[in-house]
Amino acid sequence: MTLNSNQKTEKKKRETFSTGLAVFFATLGSAVGLGNIWKFPYLTGNSGGGAFVFTYLICILLVGIPVMVAEFYIGRKTRKNAVGAFTALKASPFWKIIGYMGAAASLFIMFFYSSVAGWVYSYVFKALTGKFGALAKKPVEEAVKTAGEEFSLTVGGTYSPVLWQFIVIAVVSAILIAGVQKGIERVTKTLMPLLFLLIIICDIRAITLPKASQGLQFLFNVDFSKINAPVILTALGLAFFKLSLGMGTMITYGSYFTEESNLMTTSARVAVSDTIVSLLSGIAIFPVVFEFGMKPGGGPGLLFQTIPLAFSRMPLGNLLLIAFFLLAAIAATTAMISMLEVPIAILTEEKGMGRTNAVLLISSVVFIIGAVTVHPESIFGGVTLLGKGFFDLFDYISSNILLPVGGLLISVFAGYFVSKSELCKELSNNGIIKNKSLINIYHFVVKFVTPILLIIVFLSSIGIIKLK
Ligand code: TRP
Repeated sequence: MTLNSNQKTEKKKRETFSTGLAVFFATLGSAVGLGNIWKFPYLTGNSGGGAFVFTYLICILLVGIPVMVAEFYIGRKTRKNAVGAFTALKASPFWKIIGYMGAAASLFIMFFYSSVAGWVYSYVFKALTGKFGALAKKPVEEAVKTAGEEFSLTVGGTYSPVLWQFIVIAVVSAILIAGVQKGIERVTKTLMPLLFLLIIICDIRAITLPKASQGLQFLFNVDFSKINAPVILTALGLAFFKLSLGMGTMITYGSYFTEESNLMTTSARVAVSDTIVSLLSGIAIFPVVFEFGMKPGGGPGLLFQTIPLAFSRMPLGNLLLIAFFLLAAIAATTAMISMLEVPIAILTEEKGMGRTNAVLLISSVVFIIGAVTVHPESIFGGVTLLGKGFFDLFDYISSNILLPVGGLLISVFAGYFVSKSELCKELSNNGIIKNKSLINIYHFVVKFVTPILLIIVFLSSIGIIKLK
């Protein structure tokens, strides 16, 4: 089936972001989150440094940006949620699976993401109460040990991690109920640049450490022999996770874009800015890792053990530490809002549920399942399935399966089930933007390169083909 034109659905006036700049910052607010400051560095540490970073950049270019443009197209064209959009495009009901799978992925991610956000919130509190002041006065080895113990305490308690997770979910729900648009616009426009500035201060601290070059080498030195199938699958999963792709978030946000927004340049700018934030976080963290003799493959605790150490040993350290974790908390919060907006928009627009009820329902599910599964001390905390605890399992299912499968379906839809002229019309804003050759390249990539790459990575991850 090929879609024909003139299907712009006339519906009751839906809210949109007010300006192009607001569109950019709101979208960046969804992309930038714990993925940059927590996940990117620790996955880079686990997967061998530069080789992983290189693979990740390729994934952003050949898979991330094309899928993002396709999501923007579907969203702005229809001005609908991730399920309704496919009805509006008169696509076969099969495609609604993208929206339903997206809603499931959103929950799976939230189960563990809200818990990590809880750690971040609790670090704001710890910094405020001067918990990290002592790190400065201790000899290096002891300070490293204390930072590690503090992290274990944060994660391992019986009640406190659950309580912090509850606080996170309550904050996110309150913002969602109050109505996202104006809130998100205002928050992201001022705080994104501030977060940027603070990471740069961290960077300056990090690269002036005596052993900084070892950290930078780890991050940027590409050893091609380290690229193998699991590294590619992890990098691909991170690309989707980072750019909020494959589950309809960008369809939903695209539906709030202005008529003038340039979909292709917006996606390139968001992808580039987001990647810069990730790299800057890596530059802030790895020199510290090597300076203090820590392990780059230290896992999810990496951020929480390095940043307090580095900051505690510089002038105004505690103040900067408070600011850093506060901004990280805000970045995580805006990302979570965009994640939950997917199932909430589906429940309200497709199922006719009231917004407040939808928010309360989804948040309760996230909290109850999250609380009993992801914490080491919780009821199912010790249970493993397929060799993974629930925390890792939720992460794996979402990043390595649901998001890439969603991305594959979205790119196949845009490449094969939307006519080229239709795509051209929307991507050039009805011929106003003169970008014909760029659209030609895009159409080729989304039709042949993106889906084929995704299929190869899948087949190799389930062992049907051998990459090496
Ligand atoms: N991109 C965010 C981050 O890096 C997380 C996120 C927000 C997300 N919305 C999403 C991930 C939708 C996948 C899908 O922290």
